[in-house]
Formats: sequence, C-alpha cells, structure tokens
Amino acid sequence: MNTKGLILAGGAGTRLHPLTRVACKQLLPVYDKPMIYYPLATLMLGGVREVLIISTPKDLPSFRALFGDGSHLGMKIEYAEQAEPKGIAQAFLIGESFIGGQPSCLILGDNIFYGKLDFFREALALREGACVFGYEVRDPERYGVVEFAPDGRVLSIEEKPKQPKSRFAVPGLYVYDAKVVDICRNMKPSPRGELEITDVNLEYLRRGELRVKVLGRGMAWLDTGTQTSLLEAANYIAAIQNRQGLMIACIEEIAFHQRWIDQAQFERVIAALPKNEYREYLQRVAEGR
Ligand code: DAU
Repeated sequence: MNTKGLILAGGAGTRLHPLTRVACKQLLPVYDKPMIYYPLATLMLGGVREVLIISTPKDLPSFRALFGDGSHLGMKIEYAEQAEPKGIAQAFLIGESFIGGQPSCLILGDNIFYGKLDFFREALALREGACVFGYEVRDPERYGVVEFAPDGRVLSIEEKPKQPKSRFAVPGLYVYDAKVVDICRNMKPSPRGELEITDVNLEYLRRGELRVKVLGRGMAWLDTGTQTSLLEAANYIAAIQNRQGLMIACIEEIAFHQRWIDQAQFERVIAALPKNEYREYLQRVAEGR
C-alpha cells in the first residue's frame, strides 16, 4: 500500500493581506503556476499518488476546480474542509478516514522544495516511526527549530523559539507511520489554541521514534511567508526554468514521467488546455523533443 499524502492549504493568510483577500495564499502565483502545484509536485515525485487537499470551506471549491478527482494525472485527489485553522496537526484528524490506518505524509501548501528528492523517497520507504527534516536558515526563530547533540542525536524541537538553539528549521514536510492519528487525537491544543505539529514530533521523539534528516545546502527550500520572499521564490523558479527550458512542478509532465498516465491520456490532457506556452511545453514533452 502506498503512503497517503495530505496537503494542508488553509489558514487565514493574514500576513499577505491584501494579496489574500480574494484568493488564499496557496492559490497565489509563484511565477507561472499556483503555489499549490509545487507541494503537489513534491508529493508526486515522491511517488505519492493518493492525496487529500485540506482547505477552508471558502477556498476548497477553487482547489477542486484546479485538480478535480485527479484522474487526468492518474491520481486520486480528495478534498476536506478545515472549518477553522486549529493547527497543522489537525490535518491528521480531518484526514483520518482518508488515511485509513496507513502511513501518511503531510506537506504544507506553501512549502516549495527544489532539488534532488531522494531524502523524501527514503523517508517514505521507512514506514515506521516519524521522519522530518532539518534545513539551515538565517532566521530559524520563524520556524520549528531542531537541536542536535554533537553525535547527531536530536535533543529538542521548539516551535518559533525566541532564542533558537540551532539554525536548523523543520520544513513543512512530515512523514509518519500509522500511529500519527492516535497521537493527534490525544494531544491538547497549545496556549495559542492550535494542535501543534511540533508537539506531534516531540511525542515521536519521546518514544524514541523520530528521525531528523538534515537536508544539504544543494537543496532549495523556499520561503513564501512574506511579500518579498514570495517574489524571490518566483524569481528563483523563473531563473531556473528559463535557463534550462524545463519546467519545475509541471504536474502533467510528472504524471507522464511517473507512467501514471500513458501517451494517449497525456495527449488528451494537452488537447484540453488553452493554447499557450504551458501547452506548447507539454507538447514538446509528449513528442520527446
Ligand atoms: O514552513 C515550515 C513551518 O511551518 C514549520 O517550521 C513550523 O514548525 C510550523 O509550525 C509551520 O510554521 P508557520 O509559521 O508557517 O505556520 P502557519 O501557522 O503559518 O501555517 C503554515 C501553513 O499551514 C500556512 O500556509 C497556513 C496553513 N495552515 C495553518 C494552520 C495553523 C492551515 O491550513 N491550517 C491551520 O490550522
């Protein structure tokens, strides 16, 4: 059985207001695609074929309009509402029946990864315990922060500490075994009223079942939390795409390369697209040019 994937794409989006007045953050453009394409592509490249998108009652219909049931990508995409933003870990309670007692992974709808995704595929292959990641950043106080002992053991994880014990942030990509739903069910909301993902990771740490893999500096984990970082992320994607002539997070191309859709299905998907550069790119892929 494959690991189930959750994308959490709700939240109030207050930090990016007024950009987020009408469309939620995860639907904003990052260069030439809606932001959620990037985390969806990450899951797809990890081999995750069944995905639940969780968002607000207001925004969920937009995601459904974007991806439908996922069959055009050879995937199964489902949708669920998060009535109020009561914490990242709530995703596992909302997704309980979708997860169906299987291992699962969660990616935040505003997290963009670019680079070799072996670290993610290796984490998905574990199927026992929890695996999260550490990524060195200049401003760790904005994230969950992991502290390592000199021998590499994990000593602590703290959510947005005023005085971070390291520069390693925990990105919004988490891989768990089937126990995660029970762990979330037994958790209490934090003082800010949220079920904290950091508390889930601490519970696995307490049980001796948490792995933290450090991502090398060759990996890009881009921030989209502020207007400036959103622009920088778009520029980064544009720079690489325009240099290589290859698209990042082109979900139809990934589905084809994963062999989740065959040549005929791929061509049908392309035929349904409006005539523009995106379609021309896919046509080149289909013709092997
Ligand atoms: O991006 C990685 C960081 O994400 C981690 O290092 C932190 O440990 C983790 O708490 C989280 O920090 P953020 O400050 O980014 O959390 P925020 O509350 O902004 O939520 C992250 C995304 O998830 C955001 O796009 C909104 C969405 N969200 C959040 C909550 C709390 C939901 O859809 N529902 C929610 O209930």
